[in-house]
Amino acid sequence: MREQLEALKVESLTKLSAASSVEELEAVRVQTLGKKGDLTKILRGLGKVDPKERPKLGVLANEIKVEFNQALEAQQSVLKKSAMEARLKEEQIDITLPGRSPAIGSIHPISRALDELTTIFTHMGFPPATGPEVENDWYNFGALNIPADHPAREMHDTFYLPPAHDGGKRVLRTHTSSVQVHFMENRQPPIRMIAPGKVFRCDSDITHTPMFHQIEGVLVDEGVNFGQLKGLIETFLHRFFERELPVRFRPSFFPFTEPSAEADMGCIFCDAKGCRICKNTGWIEILGCGMIHPNVLKNVDIDTEKYSGFAFGMGVERLAMLKYGINDLRTFFENDLRFLQRHATVGGE
Ligand code: PHE
Repeated sequence: MREQLEALKVESLTKLSAASSVEELEAVRVQTLGKKGDLTKILRGLGKVDPKERPKLGVLANEIKVEFNQALEAQQSVLKKSAMEARLKEEQIDITLPGRSPAIGSIHPISRALDELTTIFTHMGFPPATGPEVENDWYNFGALNIPADHPAREMHDTFYLPPAHDGGKRVLRTHTSSVQVHFMENRQPPIRMIAPGKVFRCDSDITHTPMFHQIEGVLVDEGVNFGQLKGLIETFLHRFFERELPVRFRPSFFPFTEPSAEADMGCIFCDAKGCRICKNTGWIEILGCGMIHPNVLKNVDIDTEKYSGFAFGMGVERLAMLKYGINDLRTFFENDLRFLQRHATVGGE
């Protein structure tokens, strides 16, 4: 019987280590230790054995049982682990995939244009700044070299608000140039910033809405010149429209810049052959700009002997219409879902 037990031990342990699944292991266990198992069968014969031998064989049988169980457990955990690994591999999900877009909510084309413009200028070293939409006379006009009664005020159809507590005039800002003043009055050059935001003018027709958006840009440093301004505008337009475009400057007038210019870009629709958008000129007016007037720098305590700067301001609706092919300004503000869905980007797509 001893030999039988020894043989069983070797055989069952070999089977255990050969088992390749949890189910196979269980089968080996039943075959060895089960009611009708091999060990049980052998032990049934214990009654016929010499009583002196019986305790020793009992001890041996127990040892085999213990050893078998230990080996079983060890093998079980190995198999469970590899089964788990196999399952994880099979059920793997790629968490780096982008999520699904929400069914509702989208980014308005104006916000999208503002985001794109802000990103482009930030990459060029012009971080965004903000200022109030309700302004007093000084920030919107006075500090920008537009004194009271100056005819230039008529260029802006201003919304006047009831005066402030101290009697000061209050207006809805007519341009983002007011942010130049806020930004520069607390700083010394080198100064670089852009100011995206809403502006308001009492004007409403096919090409004007009483509220629209502008982006202002400012750079003040030693030795700043017009050539740098032109280079900046060319680079920016190239990035925004994703193609190289010619830029030309035409002399213009703004009280806060001297000299002043209006910049045109080559028409993106007709390649200089003429079309409705550019009125057959091949050029589209895109922004106002110029070298900051020394009076403006003086108003914010910047030394005009040492520093000079340029500023530019452009309409965001205009740029968005050109880039996204929108032909009616008013559609931006009608909130017609069909329009919004057609031009929407959802969840950063
Ligand atoms: N503020 C001007 C406008 O609204 C644009 C401008 C900005 C012009 C900066 C020159 C410099 O038309």
